[in-house]
Amino acid sequence: METTTLAQQFNSYFNAKPDFIVRAPGRVNLIGEHTDYNDGFVLPMAIDRAVWIALKPRTDGKVRIFSLDLEAESAFELASLTRGDTWIEYPKGIASALQNAGYKLNGFDAVMTGDVPRGAGLSSSAAVELAVARAFSVVSGFEWDASVMAKFAQKAENEWVGVNCGIMDQMASAACKEGYALFLDCRSLEIQHAPLPQGTSVVILDTSTRRGLVDSAYNERRSQCEEAAQWFGVKALRDVSVDEFQRKMKEDSGLSEIAAKRAKHVITENARVLEAIRAMKNSDVKRLGELFNASHNSLRDDFEVTNDALNIMVECAREQESCYGARMTGAGFGGCAVALVDEEKAEAFVQAVSAAYRQRSGCEASIYVCKASEGANILKG
Ligand code: GLA
Repeated sequence: METTTLAQQFNSYFNAKPDFIVRAPGRVNLIGEHTDYNDGFVLPMAIDRAVWIALKPRTDGKVRIFSLDLEAESAFELASLTRGDTWIEYPKGIASALQNAGYKLNGFDAVMTGDVPRGAGLSSSAAVELAVARAFSVVSGFEWDASVMAKFAQKAENEWVGVNCGIMDQMASAACKEGYALFLDCRSLEIQHAPLPQGTSVVILDTSTRRGLVDSAYNERRSQCEEAAQWFGVKALRDVSVDEFQRKMKEDSGLSEIAAKRAKHVITENARVLEAIRAMKNSDVKRLGELFNASHNSLRDDFEVTNDALNIMVECAREQESCYGARMTGAGFGGCAVALVDEEKAEAFVQAVSAAYRQRSGCEASIYVCKASEGANILKG
């Protein structure tokens, strides 16, 4: 949204000009799926879809937010946070995490809007969390440290909202750089900004199916990974190499078949991320595409988090000559796939895949070329 339009909306709602406008993006994960909570590697990219907040500080410790998209206002007192079950829990969770860590927060009036589709695997909740954290940092006058804020946002999501996610989405929304993907070591939180290969476009392919029961399936995957890590005698599956995995699997295992499959995905996926980084450095787009494909197949066959719509979408994408590779992205069970496509043919790719997917699935997809955007930032103020 244009910042002037958002400022006008603020003006008409609060009858005053906003002092600041902040923004935080959603993300698409290029490769490294279900590796973050295994202390592994991921390669997300912030997308040109985001959450924007226009705001003005208050002096009475109150936070009032009008959501333009829901046409609803919600408010809370910083001094007495209590749990509810609407969208305002994300801002409250951020306030709680920051205050528990000793931050002195100021309240604010705000108008919020966003265009990250919800439940699509593009991290709309991380975008809200980081935009709110950015808002608190400008009105309360504390320094913005992307990794520190990402950790608080993850804490808010884990402990306040009650979703047991890893650190990838929050780090992507906080720390990405325009034009780059973010190579992240989820154990050390070390980051490297990795330039996208020249002449390629990243295309998001939204199946328009939404994940159901995702939390329980996600938590189940997490515990299967923990079971496998324990069996290998390591802190996390990050500590097992592909060679070691193969060697141990030849011996009489004792590890349940299902945990072995989950571990195989995570261990090979970590190796794929490292190879993807090398391929990007060498501008080897063909190899990068192959890694996308291998990642999807592993998520489909070993980690078992795809659905029919995602598999059909990925097939439709791969059939196009202009496509280097395609895979599901995010937690899975619905939502989006991502494809790496020849930039010059990207628009034709979008048309062709839309038609093929419609024909094969009977559903309308939403497919768009996306740009690597900047992490959480201040647009005005
Ligand atoms: C969700 C979680 C992330 C990550 C992905 C799977 O997006 O929020 O932490 O685990 O699923 O890679």
